[in-house]
Amino acid sequence: MTSVLLLENIHDTAVGRFAEAKLEIERRSGAPVGDDLCAALQAHELVGIRSATHLHRHEINAAQHLLAIGCFCIGTSQVDLNAAAQAGIPVFNAPFSNTRSVAELVIAEAILLLRRVPEKSALAHTGKWAKGSSGSFEARGKTIAIVGYGNIGSQVGVLAEAMGMRVVYYDAHAKLSIGSARAAQSLVDAVSQADVVTLHVPATARTNRMIDAEALAHFKMGAALINASRGSVVDIDALAHALKERRLGGAAIDVFPEEPKANADVFDSVLQQLPNVILTPHIGGSTEEAQENIGTEVATKLISFLTTGATEGAVNFPHVSPGPLSAPARLLNVHVNVPGALATLNTRLAGEGSNIVAQHLQTKGETGYVVTDLDRVPSKGLIESLSIAPGFVRSRLLMKSGK
Ligand code: NAI
Repeated sequence: MTSVLLLENIHDTAVGRFAEAKLEIERRSGAPVGDDLCAALQAHELVGIRSATHLHRHEINAAQHLLAIGCFCIGTSQVDLNAAAQAGIPVFNAPFSNTRSVAELVIAEAILLLRRVPEKSALAHTGKWAKGSSGSFEARGKTIAIVGYGNIGSQVGVLAEAMGMRVVYYDAHAKLSIGSARAAQSLVDAVSQADVVTLHVPATARTNRMIDAEALAHFKMGAALINASRGSVVDIDALAHALKERRLGGAAIDVFPEEPKANADVFDSVLQQLPNVILTPHIGGSTEEAQENIGTEVATKLISFLTTGATEGAVNFPHVSPGPLSAPARLLNVHVNVPGALATLNTRLAGEGSNIVAQHLQTKGETGYVVTDLDRVPSKGLIESLSIAPGFVRSRLLMKSGK
């Protein structure tokens, strides 16, 4: 029976999916390391981790039966992706599961900042009554500039437009505008017309401190900045300066250049003493719904790979979607991406009289992955000969009978 090891309290939705697929499930709450981790991996074909379990090259190579890795989170930097690809192991994650959670938080923060709720709330907590409408605005009719119009950015645009906001966006690449959103010509063009600027770019060399003193100087007087993307994107000292001199009316910051590693660690920021600033501990995507979605999405990808060989969505592997198995047998071969691998495979299949019903080949970097549907079950000898053929990394056979 195929078994899956689920570490770090992976959500029950994943457990349900694996149980439906009749897999043996071992659950552990922690994130084992070193020998403990190697020993735990020995008995399983699939492993599910979150961000605390680190899978290095030696642990991946020592896991003899491991077929695939599921990261039940967004990031995959905790896994040596090259080592996994070289071992013929695809790595799956859930890149879109928390998109809506981030977008909703951003919209809520835009409204709170426009109404100056953070500073009024802080005053009320200290017994002060700051009733008044001066400097408080509705979101309706205001302009939101979305920097990075990808999954999250475009979702923010949809929600903002539904509230009557005017949406402009700036992206490094040409994007299809959703609804009435309009593309700005440049970052300066976007931020200079916005009442609220929200950042949704990845951390790259080009986005590093993209919002610095120079960029902030182009913001409209009294505009608000929201950053729920990555901590490196904003120069926090420059932001603090712009807030102190009231050039900016407020900010909501969820991600920081330096973040505490654990909840018990102290969080320290120059923004802490400033009014109309919302500080949150990197929780943009942290909702029960996102965890549920992650559980379902990654478990579904792992089961699909197990039962059909599909690698759609794998972060380190060529993408092949062969569909359900209708032929008597399906051979899955991972090989080094060099000329001749497909010829070797097909010559050996022809040699024992196997006819190819369908064949899908994709390559990515050094890895080649070929899925071959056959009119008969190939011999054990053929599978064994492929396992030692030069350039062949691993072979797996699926049979329609399920045996
Ligand atoms: P995505 O990849 O779908 O979108 C990013 C967009 O930024 C793309 O359209 C890309 O073309 C654009 N972009 C890249 N470089 C750019 C540049 N120099 N100037 C302008 N545009 C540029 O990513 P997604 O899923 O929308 O995530 C956005 C950010 O949100 C990421 O940094 C991600 O790490 C972060 N995030 C934060 C969470 C939180 O808890 N606060 C949760 C989930 C994601």
